[in-house]
Amino acid sequence: MSFKLGNYEIKNKLILAPMAGVSNSPFRLLAREYGAGVVYAEMVSDKGIFHQNKKTLELLYMTEEEKPCAQQIFGSDLETMVEAAMFIDKNSNCDFIDINMGCPVPKVAISAQAGAALMKDPQKIYDIVKAISEKVSKPVTVKIRSGWDDKSINAVEVAKMAEKAGAKAITIHARTRAQGYSGEPDLDIIKAVKEAVSIPVFGNGNVVDGPSAKRMLEYTGCDAVVIGRAALGNPWIFREINAYLNNEPIPERKVTEVRDLMIRHFLDLVRIKGEHIACLEMRSHGPWYLKGLTNASEVRKELSRIETKEAFLMHVNKYFDEMIKK
Ligand SMILES: Cc1cc2nc3c(=O)[nH]c(=O)nc-3n(C[C@H](O)[C@H](O)[C@H](O)COP(=O)(O)O)c2cc1C
Repeated sequence: MSFKLGNYEIKNKLILAPMAGVSNSPFRLLAREYGAGVVYAEMVSDKGIFHQNKKTLELLYMTEEEKPCAQQIFGSDLETMVEAAMFIDKNSNCDFIDINMGCPVPKVAISAQAGAALMKDPQKIYDIVKAISEKVSKPVTVKIRSGWDDKSINAVEVAKMAEKAGAKAITIHARTRAQGYSGEPDLDIIKAVKEAVSIPVFGNGNVVDGPSAKRMLEYTGCDAVVIGRAALGNPWIFREINAYLNNEPIPERKVTEVRDLMIRHFLDLVRIKGEHIACLEMRSHGPWYLKGLTNASEVRKELSRIETKEAFLMHVNKYFDEMIKK
């Protein structure tokens, strides 16, 4: 079940995806505790690091308990990408430096010509990965898409270029930039990338449970699967998929466990980011945690506009107290 990444022997085949506004320290820690073998931190901008922007630097916060953990950067300018990677190499607690070549949002892929826009220029990918790999001591990994659009599927070419330039692993989100986050991921492209390179390959796209993880692993031969949206408000997914892959009974998810984890996630956010930001972030995370629970529409509404720590704890405890009484 294990594979090697840098100096680590990763004990299972599940990875938490980098997700801006989600994959921060408290959430990564929950994912690790519940069974993610590796966690990826959300992307930070190379320019933000280069200019020592306070908010960007705060995003680099990472604890020992989360490791092994990758820090992702995005950008398109060779010089600032290298500077940012060197800064992270020296100052971040991360184990790997990941380069984003998949972000589809216009601010990144169009205005900045970064993220998925790099897929249009494999030579540039080679230059960036090579220059960074030569300057940092931590292993460099890349996260790519199938291609820019269905007329330019080039993941295999890009993967080979990245490997030649020194990348130590490749995540492939098996959709084009044009597809965004919808449509079925193309398992054949993950398989083709895996066959084309000898570094670890991680498959990504719509892994939502044990069967979908197993299908991607078996069909493509990839070394691990990267889980994004299905982990939102759902760190248990790692425990459940690990059990499924090991043919073990799926552990029960107790209602009290949902309450305790929500509260812990929130209090960790308060500690690291302060009450105001923690409340803003929990306006999304809170309702995600409650997905599928009965009679939760009222509390979901309250959490989606939560403003204080006191109110958060009051609404969550009230809801779960009533649930447990029934
Ligand atoms: C809220 C959100 C934020 C994301 N932020 C990033 C990011 O910072 N870097 C990145 O490479 N991908 C990012 N992604 C893409 C995911 O890492 C992943 O590739 C995508 O969601 C597909 O996986 P899934 O089908 O398991 O969700 C983001 C996705 C979501 C939903």
